[in-house]
Amino acid sequence: MLIQIPNVLTKDEVEYALRELKQGAYEDGKVSAGEIAGQVKQNLQLKRDAEAMKKCAPMLLAALKRNAEFQAAALPLKIRDPLLNRYDVGMTYGLHVDNALMGEPATIRTDVSGTLFLSSPQDYDGGELVIQEISAQRRVKLPAGCMVLYASTNSHRVEPVTRGTRLAGIFWIQSMVRDETKRDILFDLNQIMDSVDKKIDPAEKMALASIYHNLLRQWAET
Ligand code: NI
Repeated sequence: MLIQIPNVLTKDEVEYALRELKQGAYEDGKVSAGEIAGQVKQNLQLKRDAEAMKKCAPMLLAALKRNAEFQAAALPLKIRDPLLNRYDVGMTYGLHVDNALMGEPATIRTDVSGTLFLSSPQDYDGGELVIQEISAQRRVKLPAGCMVLYASTNSHRVEPVTRGTRLAGIFWIQSMVRDETKRDILFDLNQIMDSVDKKIDPAEKMALASIYHNLLRQWAET
């Protein structure tokens, strides 16, 4: 699973977030990392109680809620309040895997991780998100307002930023469908249903929808 979702935020929303984040209060990113990941994490994150967080987090969560592709891909049961991360020149996050459980005490299991790019790629060099799959590395650097989703089981890192500042929203999602393969099958089916929607007759549409919902019924937990 590695899904890129364009235009999760509008241009206005991106500009609003960047304006707020410019004046936000940041802290060392290590405070939200586990002990092992903390050793390779060198970035800043907006403080949870910062004014900018109170303004931006609800806007970002609302954007996910209205995005049909995100909903179909992640099948979210719970979404953790985002982290808003900042990498200035020289900052990086070495190879790590995200904590399986988050919250004190744990309130969410991380099945899907997401990065919502806020800075425009022209405004910084480096800072690619590199996702380590078993047989390949995938390098991701998306336009502002676009998002990448990947299974939280994948190790990943952020390349050092060598110019400018990279701002991004980081999400963790507990999915109704814990198993990545099953989530992928449901997403593929959902995408095909969308693409053939206008080409098939209502009975065929109903048959496909019935298969989708019966698979979801088999696999989803709420
Ligand atoms: Ni991570």
